Amino acid sequence: MKNEELQFAIAFEERLAASTKERVRIVIKEQYKDAYDILADCEAARLIPGIIGPPGVGKTLLLRAYAERSGRSFTWITGDEGVRPSHLIGSFNPALVLKNGFTLESFDPGPLLKSMVFGGVFGLNEGNRLPEYVQNSLLEPFEELSVNVQRLGRIKAHEDFFPVITMNPEEMAGAHRLSEALRDRIRVWVRLGYPRKETEIEIVKVNAPEYKLSDTVLETVYGLVSATRNSTDIEIPASIRAGISIARLSAQMSKRKKVKEINYSMLSEAATYVLTGALRFRPGIDPEPAVNQLVRRVLGSKGTT
Ligand SMILES: Nc1ncnc2c1ncn2[C@@H]1O[C@H](COP(=O)(O)OP(=O)(O)OP(=O)(O)O)[C@@H](O)[C@H]1O
Ligand SMILES: [Mg+2]
Repeated sequence: MKNEELQFAIAFEERLAASTKERVRIVIKEQYKDAYDILADCEAARLIPGIIGPPGVGKTLLLRAYAERSGRSFTWITGDEGVRPSHLIGSFNPALVLKNGFTLESFDPGPLLKSMVFGGVFGLNEGNRLPEYVQNSLLEPFEELSVNVQRLGRIKAHEDFFPVITMNPEEMAGAHRLSEALRDRIRVWVRLGYPRKETEIEIVKVNAPEYKLSDTVLETVYGLVSATRNSTDIEIPASIRAGISIARLSAQMSKRKKVKEINYSMLSEAATYVLTGALRFRPGIDPEPAVNQLVRRVLGSKGTT
C-alpha cells in the first residue's frame, strides 16, 4: 500500500472503532418509553411499525437506541426520488462480474440486504418520498421477510431483522403519499410529538453534557422554541434540535468570552443564528425581521438572565 493509502486505512479503522464505541444518549420516558415498548411488542408480534412525528422529535434516535439495547446494528436510509431498488438491495460490480461472473463475490450488498442477512434494525425515513415502484420493492422484504436477489436467489431474512418506517406527518411531506400497498403493510402507527416542557429541557441537557446550563437558561431556550410552535405565522416550527443548538451555541459563546453565566445578549445572538434557518414561515413573511421580533418578544419579557 502507498503511504497515503495506508494512513487512510489506519485512520478509517480508528473512526470505525470510534463509531461503535459511541453510546446513544437518550431520555426514555413518557412518549419515548411508550413508543419503545410498542416497538418491542411489534417486533415480538411480527408487526411492522411506523413512527410519525414532525422533524427532530427523536424518531431516528429512538430506533438507534432500540437497536443498541438489543445489540444489533442500526441502518437507516432516507427516501427520495433518486433511490432505486438497487440502492437498497445491492448490485453487481461490473468489473468483478467480468472477472468472476454473476457470483456472490461480484455483488455489492445494499443496506437493506445487509440488515436482512445479519439481522439488524432497518429504519426507512420518509418512505413516502420513494417512487412507487421502489416502495413496491419493499413489500416482500417487509411483509414476507424475504427478498429475491437477482441471479443469486431468494433469501429469508435473519430472525432479528426488524424494519420500521418513520415519517413526518403527511401535511409536511407535501404531495408524497405512502403507496396504498406499503401503507397496508404498516400495521401499527406510533405518534411522537413535541415532549412536555420538563422532558424537552432534560433532552437539551442530555445533549449538552459538557456545558453547565442554569435553569433560567434552559427555561429561556424552551420559551424560544415553544414560541415558534404556537405562532400562526410559522409553518415548520423549531424542533428539539433547534433548542439543543441554541443552548450549545450560547454556552460556547460564554465559554469563549470567559463569562460565568450565559447572558441575555448571547442567548439572543445564538437564537437568531439558529432560528434564521430552522423555521419555515408562511409565504409572504420575511424571515429575518420575524425571527428578530420573536426573539425580542420572548427574551424581552425575561429581562436579564
Ligand atoms: N428522547 C430524547 N433523548 C435525547 N435526545 C433526544 C431525544 N429526542 C430527540 N433528541 C435529540 O433531538 C435531535 C433530533 O432527533 P432525531 O434525529 O432522532 O429526530 P427525528 O425525529 O429522526 O428527525 P427527522 O424527522 O428530521 O429525521 C437529536 O439531536 C437527538 O439527539
Ligand atoms: Mg430522523
